Amino acid sequence: MAIRNIRTDGDEVLRKVSKEVPEVNDKIRQLISDMIETMHDADGVGLAAPQIGILKRIIVLDMYDDEGPFAIINPEMVYQDGEQIEEEGCLSIPGYNGMVERPMNVAVKGLNENGEEIMVEGTELLARALCHEIDHLNGVLFKDKVINE
Ligand code: NI
Repeated sequence: MAIRNIRTDGDEVLRKVSKEVPEVNDKIRQLISDMIETMHDADGVGLAAPQIGILKRIIVLDMYDDEGPFAIINPEMVYQDGEQIEEEGCLSIPGYNGMVERPMNVAVKGLNENGEEIMVEGTELLARALCHEIDHLNGVLFKDKVINE
């Protein structure tokens, strides 16, 4: 386990498109473990692999509820519905917050750390976090989507 450096806005790695993970192996599980530790150390609810400089399609989330932290490998949005406009922030843009419109409900499919297919359904904060983290895998930062007051 290791806490990795979180890359910040201006680092070009945050603007690249991450690659699909072809195989879920021990190396990927170690990476996920480090991502969760790094997210917790920074008091975040989500982290995407490019934020620690790894261009792989992996996100981790923790709503600090009974579910505990979890990872989605190769996440793919398969459903979205409704809208919400709430304040958002990002561990890669410290000290900056802004209002972003997101769907109210989403469903995301992908693989868990055992390589099994999973479907994660999220509403409100979890829906927002899923959208935010998947955006990171496509080189998109929330500040690109902030609604000007
Ligand atoms: Ni972020």
